[in-house]
Amino acid sequence: MAHDHDHDHDHAPHDHAHDGHTHMDFAEMLPYLEQEAELTSPLYASAAGWLREWQPEPEMIVDAGSGPGIVSCLLAHTFPQARVVAVDGVAPLLERAREHADRLGVADRFSTLRTDLDDGLGDLEYPADLLWASRSLHHVGDQRTALEGFARALAPGGAVALLEGGLPARYFPRDIGIGRPGLQSRIDAIQEEWFAKMRAELPGAVTETEDWPALMHAVGLRHVATRTFLLDLPAPLSDEARAFVVSALTHRREGLGEHLDADDLATLDRLLDPDDKASVHHRPDTFLLTAHTVYVGVKPE
Ligand SMILES: C[S@@+](CC[C@H](N)C(=O)[O-])C[C@H]1O[C@@H](n2cnc3c(N)ncnc32)[C@H](O)[C@@H]1O
Repeated sequence: MAHDHDHDHDHAPHDHAHDGHTHMDFAEMLPYLEQEAELTSPLYASAAGWLREWQPEPEMIVDAGSGPGIVSCLLAHTFPQARVVAVDGVAPLLERAREHADRLGVADRFSTLRTDLDDGLGDLEYPADLLWASRSLHHVGDQRTALEGFARALAPGGAVALLEGGLPARYFPRDIGIGRPGLQSRIDAIQEEWFAKMRAELPGAVTETEDWPALMHAVGLRHVATRTFLLDLPAPLSDEARAFVVSALTHRREGLGEHLDADDLATLDRLLDPDDKASVHHRPDTFLLTAHTVYVGVKPE
């Protein structure tokens, strides 16, 4: 059901990539998913603001593939009149989503639904005015069928917002004074290979051109629009942002390290060594720059 990992290069494969498998344990990724979503919240807030153009006052919001619900709660905050349903295949993540909703005082209009996105969203009590799916569709074998399911779950006039793709994150300059320049680009290339394998190994995998606007049209959505949002945290980083960069690179080291050459691996190990002044724990030039693209499509009235 919940498969693995991510396309927009934010997450490194976290689990069994080293033994050749691409299945990932999202429950195990909970702290990382939270850390990332918290840090990315300003970007999500901008995206949610943009979605007001399609749905100024949605009554029912679905967060499909919500993970631990940081963004579900952000949507509840942005749209104070809305009920929000966090949908995911992984029970501990939904439990955490409910804890966040409690803590943030939105529990009275917040619920969760455990279901597999491959099977559509059939158990929803009410149709959605806004269905947000951030980096979840690409974990489903048959993305077109799942998107059809998303469209079916909408009320007439309702909108689907897909967050997919964008740009790979950057954490430091091209030349960091140790190792061969361009390390992050080489890690990204390995990540692309891993991602292709991950998709191919999903249950019911269907090859699909990732033209999201065309797919939205194909499932009957209209007024499709695209916008990309930037997360731009320049150096010097806050402690939280620096801790996230350490986590992100650690995941890459664990998941993809064996595919790097010896020099790059040695550089990555130095970057992760807290006792090394050249590591991302200390280096003043560490930053966080990434971009996420959101595609919106509306179900005709
Ligand atoms: C990369 S995380 C994204 C979490 C959150 N939307 C965000 O952007 O931070 C992908 C989420 O999709 C869920 N997921 C993946 N495949 C799924 C499936 N087939 N059915 C239900 N949930 C799934 C995972 O459990 C995970 O919580």
